[in-house]
Amino acid sequence: MSTQSFTFTENSSPASSERLSQVLAAPGFGEYTTDYVAKIDWAGEDPQHGEWSNARIEPYGPLALDPATAVFHYGQEVFEGLKAYRHMDGSVWLFRPDANARRLRRSARRLALPELPEELFLEAVESLVRQDSRWIPDGEGTSLYLRPFIIATEKFLGVRPSREALFEVIASPAANYFGSPEPVDIWWSRDYARAGVGGTGAAKCGGNYAASLVPQLEGEAHGCKQVMFTDENRDHAVEELGGMNVFFVLSDGSIVTPALTGTILEGVTRMSIIELARDRGHAVEERTITVGEWRDGVASGEITEVFACGTAAVVAPMGRLVYEGGEIPAASQTNGEVTTWLRTQLTGIQTGRVEDRFGWMTQVI
Ligand code: COI
Repeated sequence: MSTQSFTFTENSSPASSERLSQVLAAPGFGEYTTDYVAKIDWAGEDPQHGEWSNARIEPYGPLALDPATAVFHYGQEVFEGLKAYRHMDGSVWLFRPDANARRLRRSARRLALPELPEELFLEAVESLVRQDSRWIPDGEGTSLYLRPFIIATEKFLGVRPSREALFEVIASPAANYFGSPEPVDIWWSRDYARAGVGGTGAAKCGGNYAASLVPQLEGEAHGCKQVMFTDENRDHAVEELGGMNVFFVLSDGSIVTPALTGTILEGVTRMSIIELARDRGHAVEERTITVGEWRDGVASGEITEVFACGTAAVVAPMGRLVYEGGEIPAASQTNGEVTTWLRTQLTGIQTGRVEDRFGWMTQVI
């Protein structure tokens, strides 16, 4: 189907201005949704042979799906996360939406779902942002979080790729994911893995996040807000946190982040941090880093800063790494110079306070 063809159905009962001001004053994360959604249907013989059709913007509301719909049984689902930012002059911008469009295609390929053309992804996201523009907060650290997803919608209980799918984008005003800028303690999950070689770790699919919930609860019981996964077969190589990538800053100014091995997510924030850091002159290595190296590095002072990053989390300093029977203390500088510089640059570009020298931003309004 061609672009520029979204039909529009007006929401007859949008949120009142009182409700909107209440929500935008303290949006939290993921708690509130807006007045509209974008949707596109798909049908085909197999994921490579089908048609996207009926692109539309319509009032936000529940989906009516048969209990035998494929997504409920075999988890055939992929999603994305990106944000729209309101700048001081009132204009509205998306951060690297093309990267999210490409990753959604890669994830869909892995889950045997149809790949949405990039231009349709961009048009759906931009149309929704325009329609829901009154929901974009303008407070410090706030944005409109966009959640595109594709689900298998065929009513069929056999195990094979669905012949019907729905692409939908919903939006949610957002502030700090962790609720505070304080360093976040991490739980090292020893009993559970998030993904294995050849699995779905590099895809952004619901199952990866579902698998992280039991260790996440374990972490919360130990006072930690995030869980970290490692690869037992590679000497406890650090992989990623429940929903974000991890970076280490060394005392010589170089930066290390786990390499993309196929079991971790290729974060859009991760790749932006790498580009920002290299542009500043930091050597950035994508390589294996083990928990042992983390422990020794913090003890010797070689690792000075540890932070996590993601669309929702932005750049969040890490505190202690806690595990059954022990802990690695926080690195000497939480919210250190490099973490702070990277966060300020990234959020500065996103909010229009720092020049967009990489051409990352797309204006919507
Ligand atoms: C995002 O950062 O967009 C994610 O999807 C991760 C999740 C922790 C909200």
